[in-house]
Amino acid sequence: MNKTIFNSIAVGGGAYGDEGKGRIVDEFVHYFSKNKKVILYRDNGGANAGHTVEVQDQRIALHQLPSGIFTKGATIVLGKGMVIHPSDLLEEIREVREINNGELLVEIIVDEMAVLALDTHRAFENILKNWQEGMKGSTGRGIGPAYADILYRHPLRARDLKNWNEEKIRKHYELYDALIKGLNGDLKTTEVNMLRGNGKRAVGSIEEFVSRLKDESKELNKYIKDCHSFLLETWNKPQEYAFVFEKSQAVGLDPRYGVYPDVTASDCTFAGILSSTEGAIDPAKVNYRINVIKGTYMSSVGTRKLPTLITSSIADMIRKDAHEYGATTKRPRDIAWLDLPALHFFNQVGKATHLALTHMDIIYPDTMVKVCIAYELDGKRVGYRPDQEYLSKVKPIYEELEPWSRAEIQKAKDAHEIPDQAKKYLDFVSQKIGLPIFIITTGPKREQSISLIKLQ
Ligand code: IMP
Repeated sequence: MNKTIFNSIAVGGGAYGDEGKGRIVDEFVHYFSKNKKVILYRDNGGANAGHTVEVQDQRIALHQLPSGIFTKGATIVLGKGMVIHPSDLLEEIREVREINNGELLVEIIVDEMAVLALDTHRAFENILKNWQEGMKGSTGRGIGPAYADILYRHPLRARDLKNWNEEKIRKHYELYDALIKGLNGDLKTTEVNMLRGNGKRAVGSIEEFVSRLKDESKELNKYIKDCHSFLLETWNKPQEYAFVFEKSQAVGLDPRYGVYPDVTASDCTFAGILSSTEGAIDPAKVNYRINVIKGTYMSSVGTRKLPTLITSSIADMIRKDAHEYGATTKRPRDIAWLDLPALHFFNQVGKATHLALTHMDIIYPDTMVKVCIAYELDGKRVGYRPDQEYLSKVKPIYEELEPWSRAEIQKAKDAHEIPDQAKKYLDFVSQKIGLPIFIITTGPKREQSISLIKLQ
């Protein structure tokens, strides 16, 4: 049905997050909204995601809302595969409205099956972090415990707010109270992070917790819907509707494929679209599945020790030039050379069809671009495996490629104007990862991007 009509694109992270997905999403939303109704779907993650968007000269850090939230007339679906924090989501919606003089330009739908990630989860994660010494890597948004609820078979879902299932909500609090007591903590007084900077609040008593959720549910209920039939219907009208899937995090953070144990909890591959939509949308039928990576380096937040970590002053230079500080946590990001064994693996298991390379202007005239082409372990060439212990033993084997001129690539308007050294570099990376490159970005402005594939 969707074979010939170009109406869908999925954009994910092909490395360790923060690759600039929002920017690529923006390109396609802009393209589709000229002649179709755009549906922006997010299938994984929650308030751990973070990207900064510039609108009307104001910068706003988005977390649970995708970057297409400012697309007039679009429908934003926060899917079943997400974990939703009601207070933070309402705060984010308020801020988005404020930027638009009180108006919301889009329709927001929260799938009634989406799981709630609450203060209880954040508190438990804090307490667990102290107990599991050394595990300091989460964003503190309770993401892991909220997803764990599904496997423990006691998740609170968005529909429990809408139908106000107080008994279930109370039982939820009691469970986390007991878990936290078991680790010598106190749920009521534990402080948890809130959206926006250093905001914190104590979880409070069961009565306070229930009454706050009740108040929030009154505001949130209008967004909570059963969206399965909506998805089936719109997906089967490719002339009328276009779909942009904006994933959160990245395959290098996926619990099965990422640098375990410093990983998130959701499905960071394109396969997550299938489970989140309960099979309504087959990601294999999405026209292009693009994983975004940074062109000349990788960045990482957390405690993972990457084999290609840069320890010289080049890391500081890149961090400064490319503003490599976490949008959610503000932590300075680790900077590493491109690790092709890892990227090959991530993009294969992530089921991408294409790559996007951002930050192609982060390049220095006197510094060769180092790229890791394989690892060595006990005298043998080996590949990536999702295990921190293994990765801390391998030694990267590098190849060095010629740098290109930053000024020249920033000026390039189309593929012919890309400097020769950069073209060679792009071919090299594409061939080693085994995927064609769809688009590159060469600077912060919208027009500083070059499509290498002609759209149908
Ligand atoms: P969690 O998702 O809060 O459980 O955090 C697990 C790991 O994933 C931590 O190392 C986080 O820093 C990392 N992480 C989670 N979300 C993002 C993201 O959007 N960008 C980059 N790293 C992330």
